[in-house]
Amino acid sequence: MTFDARSHYSDIARSGPPLFFPDPPVPVTFNFDQGLAAEETFPIATLAALHQEVLDRDSGRALEYISMGWDPADDKLRYLATYEELVLGNRDLRTALASWLGGKNDRANLTADGIALTSGSVQAIGLAINALVDEGDGVLVESATFPYALRYFEMRKARTYPVAMDVDGLDPDDLERALERMRADGVRPKMLYIVASYSCPTGYTTSEERRRRIMSLAERHDLLILEDAVYADLRLSGPEVPSLLSMDRDGRVFQSHSFSKIVAPGLRLGWMAGSPEVIAALAAVRQDLGVSQWTARAMTAFVSRGHLDAHIDSVLPVYRRKRDIAAAAVTEHCAPHVTFDLPDGGFYLWLRLSEQVDWDKAQQAAASAGVSFRAGERFMNEATRPDSATYLRLAYSHVGEEELERGIRALGAAIRGAVK
Ligand SMILES: Cc1ncc(COP(=O)(O)O)c(C=O)c1O
Repeated sequence: MTFDARSHYSDIARSGPPLFFPDPPVPVTFNFDQGLAAEETFPIATLAALHQEVLDRDSGRALEYISMGWDPADDKLRYLATYEELVLGNRDLRTALASWLGGKNDRANLTADGIALTSGSVQAIGLAINALVDEGDGVLVESATFPYALRYFEMRKARTYPVAMDVDGLDPDDLERALERMRADGVRPKMLYIVASYSCPTGYTTSEERRRRIMSLAERHDLLILEDAVYADLRLSGPEVPSLLSMDRDGRVFQSHSFSKIVAPGLRLGWMAGSPEVIAALAAVRQDLGVSQWTARAMTAFVSRGHLDAHIDSVLPVYRRKRDIAAAAVTEHCAPHVTFDLPDGGFYLWLRLSEQVDWDKAQQAAASAGVSFRAGERFMNEATRPDSATYLRLAYSHVGEEELERGIRALGAAIRGAVK
């Protein structure tokens, strides 16, 4: 009998997305697909120097699972003193981040116990969903959102309720209606997952006034809020909007974040910040023995010596220029068949196609011209599809300035050629 690995797949694996998507018909020339930090901004010399410095200083201790308990008298290993690092990660980096995040989020009481380091923020999101959501619980998401969060909710067999959004972010009136629908369905409201600042995929930011209403609804309905803040530091224009974490009065908000968008994704270092009680739940479902000690030690210096703030200040003009070039090119080459709202930050333009455009034809023509982007449906599932309009997400962050202009011109030609 021939062996068929697929017949052994679990239900979860069987229902999962494919590992590989079909290859494009021609090689991709203009990649507007992934939301990546721009490679030219990576602080390579500083990262190299700090990693070397850690090895020079800590030697093999930087390459252990955790910080060991060494007896200073004879330098012998006594005990796994910081056993907590197996589930929460290096304590020094958690302390440095607590101070950095505490300042940004008006949370002077944030401590290392309120932070779990993870392999990118996506692991923090997965852990939080595994730790806090049970089968049948009701969860709320923006009507277009980060697909990995959607998939984690699906794997937990949660009931997903979409909430409408517009250029001012998640609509609290619609949140209230969704909560009422949940009550009518006999479903327990559990968690709101929200990318409140410069969202993926829309680039929209939920206004301060809406955030306050969302907080009061969460308190009234005893909802947890998972605030995904990966783009929150990438403000290119517009007002500074306080985070939901900063508005939290009772520990119901926890915030996922990482170095991926603000330094480099290959560090694979992210975190969840919140109350120690919530972080303890994440620790309870975690069994991967933590994050890299070496990278965590290097990043401790990166944060605490001020490199992180300086780096963020240095990348903002790069993304502002790219956003403006992309927006001008879309207006020039894709109007009037495409409309969009200029985002105040982040990596994306969320383009809405007019009904006059044959979407399938436009996608094929763009792919044949070597232009790749992410179709709007990828950010929705059966439960969340918001309306019949067609969207596409164009990531401008990692594309060279000249390529942005040429690629968007090619996209515009593909769209114009598909007008019905
Ligand atoms: C909204 C959002 N959250 C989280 C992530 C995950 O990033 P990482 O795991 O690298 O922190 C991404 C990456 O694209 C994202 O767009």
